[in-house]
Amino acid sequence: MNARVLSAYGFPSDVSVTPHGSGLINRTWLIRSAKGDYILQQLNRQVFVRPDFIAENIELVGQYLTEHYPGIVFPRPVRATGGETLVDAGSEGHYRLYPFIDSSVTIDVVHTPAEAFEAARQFGGFTRMLAGFDAKSLHETLPGFHDLPLRYRDFRDALGNGRPDRIQRSVQLIDYLKAQHHLVTEYANIRTNPGFKLRVTHHDTKISNVLFDRQGKGICVIDLDTVMPGYFISDVGDMLRTYLSPVSEEEKDLSLIRIRMPYFRAIVEGYLEEMSNELTPMETRSFVYAGSFMMYMQALRFITDYLRNDVYYGSKYEDQNFVRAMNQATLLRLYLAKSARLQNIVRDVVAKMTA
Ligand SMILES: Nc1ncnc2c1ncn2[C@@H]1O[C@H](COP(=O)(O)OP(=O)(O)O)[C@@H](O)[C@H]1O
Ligand SMILES: [Mg+2]
Repeated sequence: MNARVLSAYGFPSDVSVTPHGSGLINRTWLIRSAKGDYILQQLNRQVFVRPDFIAENIELVGQYLTEHYPGIVFPRPVRATGGETLVDAGSEGHYRLYPFIDSSVTIDVVHTPAEAFEAARQFGGFTRMLAGFDAKSLHETLPGFHDLPLRYRDFRDALGNGRPDRIQRSVQLIDYLKAQHHLVTEYANIRTNPGFKLRVTHHDTKISNVLFDRQGKGICVIDLDTVMPGYFISDVGDMLRTYLSPVSEEEKDLSLIRIRMPYFRAIVEGYLEEMSNELTPMETRSFVYAGSFMMYMQALRFITDYLRNDVYYGSKYEDQNFVRAMNQATLLRLYLAKSARLQNIVRDVVAKMTA
């Protein structure tokens, strides 16, 4: 560990530092010191080109939350001895420090509907607490991140200039994805509807970004690098995309992909417990759409990268991005086939909440 970084936070150079967690984006360490335990992170500079934007966003959100909800747990970056929340380590990029949330547990895979419920409640609570905060005052740390029309244009471009052999092998998948273009149209329609609100959204609602206590209750959300102005469908959609199926986007055996209805209900119940008064009727009607939006976008991003020779996601084996795209397209197909039943669940939960 860089002794200058440690010293910038007032730690002795022999303080205990061990790699921590299973995050894929940043590098994370646990520091055990005489002053207490901390999480040290080195930001991924390939992904985040403006660490200053991220630090500003987290600071603004942190200020608002601690002022308006003083009782909540929210790990705010610790200032270095010079007062900064981000330490510039030159060629090593930027580091930041968080208080370690004691006796917290992180899970990597959702195993029960109760876990899905807790996570949805946490992400819903985050957006609800920030409903009075001006989302537009935040930087867009990843411009165009969840811009579906943009992702579709990238897909079309890759069909024009991508690897011909890979285009050939993907013809069926490409046809399927083109046939789902109505999801882009729907996105364009809802986005221009005034009932569809720009909100503070997390944009990375995987289960490992929620801290749980030992009883399985959610403590808080973490990993705020992608907090930006956005739409609720991003957060709900990525939960649906990553919690509903028992297998992840990496699964090659597509017959294992399933839509687990109790998990869907748990996400609806958890999210609406926090957000039911906040969501407009128009947004609530788009709850089911949220899942297809994210599944479709992810399928498009994987196939686009495959056609572009894996420049963004990389690949550990030949055709990995094709497999991922097939996986997400399969998930989408199964999900769309259940749309009517999913809509009924949303209506049922809403009816019970207002009863
Ligand atoms: N304040 C914290 N207290 C306890 N554990 C934390 C804290 N912040 C991060 N972690 C742990 O470190 C892991 C990686 O952190 P995260 O911010 O999610 O990085 P990444 O962007 O790489 O996913 C988390 O999944 C969690 O296990
Ligand atoms: Mg994370």
